[in-house]
Amino acid sequence: VIDIRSLAKQTGKFTFDPGFTSTASCESKITYIDGEEGTLLYRGYPIDELAENSDFIETAYLLLHGDLPSGEQLDVFRGNITYHTMVHEHFKNFLNGFRRDAHPMAVMCGAVGALSAFYHDSTDIHNPEHRIISTHRMIAKMPTIAAMAYKYIMGQPFIHPRNDLHYTENFLRMCFAVPAEEYEINKVAASALDKIFILHMDHEQNASTSTVRLAGSSGANPFACIAAGIACLWGPAHGGANEAALRMLMEIGTVDKIPEYIRRAKDKDDPFRLMGFGHRVYKNFDPRAKVMKKATHEVLEALDIKDPMFAVAKELERIALEDEYFVEKKLYPNIDFYSGITLRALGFPTDMFTALFALARTVGWIAQWQEMLEDPNQKIGRPRQIYTGADRRDYVPINAR
Ligand code: ACO
Repeated sequence: VIDIRSLAKQTGKFTFDPGFTSTASCESKITYIDGEEGTLLYRGYPIDELAENSDFIETAYLLLHGDLPSGEQLDVFRGNITYHTMVHEHFKNFLNGFRRDAHPMAVMCGAVGALSAFYHDSTDIHNPEHRIISTHRMIAKMPTIAAMAYKYIMGQPFIHPRNDLHYTENFLRMCFAVPAEEYEINKVAASALDKIFILHMDHEQNASTSTVRLAGSSGANPFACIAAGIACLWGPAHGGANEAALRMLMEIGTVDKIPEYIRRAKDKDDPFRLMGFGHRVYKNFDPRAKVMKKATHEVLEALDIKDPMFAVAKELERIALEDEYFVEKKLYPNIDFYSGITLRALGFPTDMFTALFALARTVGWIAQWQEMLEDPNQKIGRPRQIYTGADRRDYVPINAR
């Protein structure tokens, strides 16, 4: 390993790596990806095993603490999370300032950043107690805030959390229950959503996680750092891709239109790309996409939903995987390709998809933030640049220009 820092100090030279395609920004013990093999491990455990056997809270413990919890540790952790699910009453007033037609991600960016104004008693990043409390607060309050953002745009009253329910069941209830009416939790829907959350929890140094680490490297408080991560996740090349993928499938509409879109995706003069296809790291199947495709199938069957978009997606995948362009460039479906169909089947509008991603990714962001702060080599992130602007020149008064 080359010590780039001392190399830069000794020689005044540094690497130029736009998009950080081959630059490691940190050491990490949390998530391992082998893009050639299509492998994803959280703390050593394969993602498909966790999605099949674990649940959100247990996997969150694993990401944060490094090992699976004992029964007692899990109970304590679950208790700590449920303890913090409520948000301050004044927080509602804050939310009421947004326009009704605001995008949920716009609300999430602002609302999560504002948590540091409501919970500033846990923002001393040098105090380990504060770090733990703000971690629990973030994980506990994200479903409440995401559900409030949803209810707000729907024009419906907020539903308070119910701490006797499982994390994901509580979230579904906060989104879909209506006051004074019985709400029955659909176990298939809750289990599928829990699986989706596990699949989205962490993905090593992706753009939003790197954003959280970079923001955190300056000593910013955790709520502000997570808000920065949410902003980054919003982009269509990152978390916004699930929304974009479903919109694309709806635009394609029928199987006979697929060849036209495949042709467009290959045309370099057309900015169109197959959304939900390709990945910076995976040059093989995204292992999350495999689990996701199976979950989509299960949900549609269990809820007896016949979504023509699923047929379009499967046929698009089949055609693309036989096409020389996609084979040569190693472009496979990523997690976002099928997740939109499942989320829609669960009743979420397209606008909410990225907010759900943010809810789940918060665990990864906060685990990475904690790991960064505990790293003895931690420094403020400060990339260099290659300046290509004007040479030194003298100021010219306005009447002489
Ligand atoms: N459709 C058509 N062509 C594609 C696609 C696609 N979805 N993705 C990449 N390509 C082509 C590019 O045009 C490029 O071709 P070229 O070599 O002839 O110029 C080549 O494949 C490499 O693409 P890059 O953009 O250089 O690859 P990069 O690693 O920078 O981008 C990314 C990865 C952003 C995910 C890209 O594949 C993409 O835009 N996909 C669609 C958006 C998407 O699904 N994003 C979700 C990512 S996963 C997540 O955030 C959870």
